[in-house]
Amino acid sequence: MRVDGVSVQCGFELMEKLECRLGVHNLSVYYDDFKALENINLLIPCKRITAFIGPSGCGKSTLLRCFNRMNDLVPGSYVEGSIFFDGTDIFSDNYDVTELRRKVGMVFQKPNPFPKTVYENVAYGPKIAGIKKKAVLDEIVERSLKRAALWDEVKDKLHSSALRLSGGQQQRLCIARALAVEPEIILLDEPCSALDPIATQRIEDLLVELAEKYTIIIVTHNMQQAARISHFTAFMMIEEHGDPGRIIEFGETSYIFTNPDNEKTERYITGRFG
Ligand SMILES: Nc1ncnc2c1ncn2[C@@H]1O[C@H](COP(=O)(O)OP(=O)(O)OP(=O)(O)O)[C@@H](O)[C@H]1O
Ligand SMILES: [Mg+2]
Repeated sequence: MRVDGVSVQCGFELMEKLECRLGVHNLSVYYDDFKALENINLLIPCKRITAFIGPSGCGKSTLLRCFNRMNDLVPGSYVEGSIFFDGTDIFSDNYDVTELRRKVGMVFQKPNPFPKTVYENVAYGPKIAGIKKKAVLDEIVERSLKRAALWDEVKDKLHSSALRLSGGQQQRLCIARALAVEPEIILLDEPCSALDPIATQRIEDLLVELAEKYTIIIVTHNMQQAARISHFTAFMMIEEHGDPGRIIEFGETSYIFTNPDNEKTERYITGRFG
């Protein structure tokens, strides 16, 4: 089926069964007078992993950063259109952006722990949110590190510098830091691109586990990774030089990777361009 010019490879039945609390409607994003994304329409299924794939520069990170309005922080950037979260447009006047960023956590390509202890990294968000009692913070730190599958490796070095952890451990610490403020959605922008295959696999296993509780959106250049862990995939690209990025096809990952509707998707996933 086609919705607003995008091939959607899953039945209405499935989309109806899935709860979607996050929806992008006619979204275009600009950096000054450069239009990076045009007319993006997308529903993000709850408690599933949705992957954004596509050639470099097609706007995957830009789109990802819109979900918690991180793109607001880029000077000169602005949007047209809407992203609805529980029925309210996050771009509407007086929308509580601080609360949005608590609910929609983000993990970046390069692990970026604060130059503080492991404990302080995880306790930082809850402290900012006003939690002061040590016993409560201790409990949050332990729970978040356990959810991020890092507890066993760091429980004896909670008070040593996070920068002494390995890259893969640092990335799981960043995930623990995101989880500590009880988000509902987690955005990850190429979270494994700086990691070796073993650390990558640990993160992938972790994301699959976290998808039981959280809605996850991941940008990845690794096709196998998208195929392995995501339930839904959006393929984005720039069709003609100078055009903005668009979503070409969206659907269940198994369809997108085995039987894409659009020839451009097929060429990309089979490695014939991009
Ligand atoms: N801060 C910015 N200021 C100006 N233009 C930007 C900015 N960030 C991104 N762009 C432009 O917007 C377009 C989309 O960039 P974006 O980083 O979203 O792509 P991407 O798909 O994530 O690429 P990659 O796979 O290389 O990370 C590109 O043309 C890029 O040059
Ligand atoms: Mg990017």
